[in-house]
Amino acid sequence: MIIAIDGPAAAGKGTLARKLAEHYGYAHLDTGALYRAVASRVLRAGVAPNDSAGATEEAQLLDAGDLLAPDLRTERVSDIASRVATVPGVRAALLDFQREFARRPPEGQKGAVVEGRDICTVVLPNADKKLFVTASAEVRAERRWKELAAGGATVSRAEVLKSVVERDRRDEERAQSSLRVAPGAFLLDTTKLDIDAAFEAAKAFVSGQN
Ligand code: CDP
Repeated sequence: MIIAIDGPAAAGKGTLARKLAEHYGYAHLDTGALYRAVASRVLRAGVAPNDSAGATEEAQLLDAGDLLAPDLRTERVSDIASRVATVPGVRAALLDFQREFARRPPEGQKGAVVEGRDICTVVLPNADKKLFVTASAEVRAERRWKELAAGGATVSRAEVLKSVVERDRRDEERAQSSLRVAPGAFLLDTTKLDIDAAFEAAKAFVSGQN
């Protein structure tokens, strides 16, 4: 059983995917963390953000330890992740891992919840259940700002909104694997929903009740 979830920056896909995975006893893969880990490597290696060959090389060298990088959730890494994600070589380097995770979830789990931007459209177009989770840019930025502020980051709401809008634009405009709603995907707008309400709606869809 494969549940694929796409959506724009800070839409709450991570929390939703984690809750669904926990509920159904499936493995969870946050593919954004893979792009973030590539970005973190790019920064550490001193590769210029517009050096496509350098970014591709870092993606090819990615290992599990990179997912523990302390800067993974920072705004700087968010920005670089969204830039390296436009490089076709970077996306190609991460593709097999994502597909293999879904085909054979770790620890013999009987399903996987995989979330990102191109999961329903490119990575796992044959997923059993497809969802597109979104919310207004203002609401998404506010949620991300709260998360960053709680972690002690000193960043303004306006800066976070600007970054969210910029990342959305890059995701939507890139030539390959652009962010869009896959045919047949369940559209879940969480602008007016809290996490419990969003989870109930997603669960009802996955269980075939809506
Ligand atoms: O947490 P947030 O929603 O802000 O971002 P994320 O899911 O951690 O993804 C970080 C960046 O990786 C995004 O801004 C996308 O540009 C990119 N990404 C992608 O291109 N394809 C994916 N399947 C997942 C993430």
